[in-house]
Amino acid sequence: KEKLKIGLLGLGVVGSGVPEILIAHQEKIRQVTGMDIVVEKAFVRDIEAKRALGDAFNIQLTTSINDILDDPEISIVVELMGKIEPAKTYISQALEKGKHVVTANKDLLAQHGGELVALAQKTHCDLYYEASVAGGIPILRTIANSLAADDITNVLGIVNGTTNYMLTKMVNDAKTYEDALKEAQALGFAESDPTNDVDGIDAAYKMVILSQFAFGMNISMEQVSVKGIRGLALEDVAMAKQLGYEIKLIGASQKTGESIHVEVSPMFVPKKHPLASVSNEYNAVFIESSGVGESMYYGPGAGAKPTATSVVSDLITIAKNIRLKTTGHMFNAYRHETLLTSDEE
Ligand code: HSE
Repeated sequence: KEKLKIGLLGLGVVGSGVPEILIAHQEKIRQVTGMDIVVEKAFVRDIEAKRALGDAFNIQLTTSINDILDDPEISIVVELMGKIEPAKTYISQALEKGKHVVTANKDLLAQHGGELVALAQKTHCDLYYEASVAGGIPILRTIANSLAADDITNVLGIVNGTTNYMLTKMVNDAKTYEDALKEAQALGFAESDPTNDVDGIDAAYKMVILSQFAFGMNISMEQVSVKGIRGLALEDVAMAKQLGYEIKLIGASQKTGESIHVEVSPMFVPKKHPLASVSNEYNAVFIESSGVGESMYYGPGAGAKPTATSVVSDLITIAKNIRLKTTGHMFNAYRHETLLTSDEE
């Protein structure tokens, strides 16, 4: 059997889930791709700290990125380090060396997606990032493929697990903001610095990516009006409940005429709206389109297993592309061109 060798950048919460899922589903993956996908090497900051993981999954650990980038046997780089740099440099170098890339990095895709997609096109490599938005929900491929023959007018999303978890605990259990945040951090949903979660920036990154897919238009972060849930008092939350609403951090991307308006803000959601029932760390994306009408996609938005499962689904897509001798870059050529135009400005 052909072996597809992976170089993993980052062996944290999601990173360690990737080899686990590849091993657990090895037989099924072999059936659908005709290949064995194996994590060969992992780039980590501290080898000693990850030694046990490396041994358990038979992964060679390295603190030198070139051990992966210069290895001709490694055909796919999976970036799960987060943040812009050095992830952007490593991904660019991997693409330049002809390696396919899978990443869950929403910060990077929201701010430099166009540039990276253009590079992937130039080097004829695949670049997939399903896990960057709404962890376990296959929303990007759904918009790009299943709704390709539709006209989307409105996207409403609960796309940050941390704040949705916090709001659920504040409403249902009268937990304070601080206690709810501590719990979300302990459960591994929050970013290492939860500022981006509570200030709505993480949700804004995801709305930028969703907007690119839904509307084929490149939105920059500066164009998104963002308000998070920092300092939200229990009284506000209690009032929403009294009035028959749920309070949710909603990302909204709406098409009016030729323009797109994107915002993230805590909103009162009427109890009968499908988004009102989305609680804890769960995410949902509610779409209005002319063909399908209203549809909602629901699932876990954070956590090791859902996110790693999504990363592995991208690996399987690339394996299939390799079998078919084609490349996918992303999901839709229309969007490549749009992204390209905007980023060249
Ligand atoms: N911190 C993010 C969240 C993780 O809470 O949704 C998933 O992107």
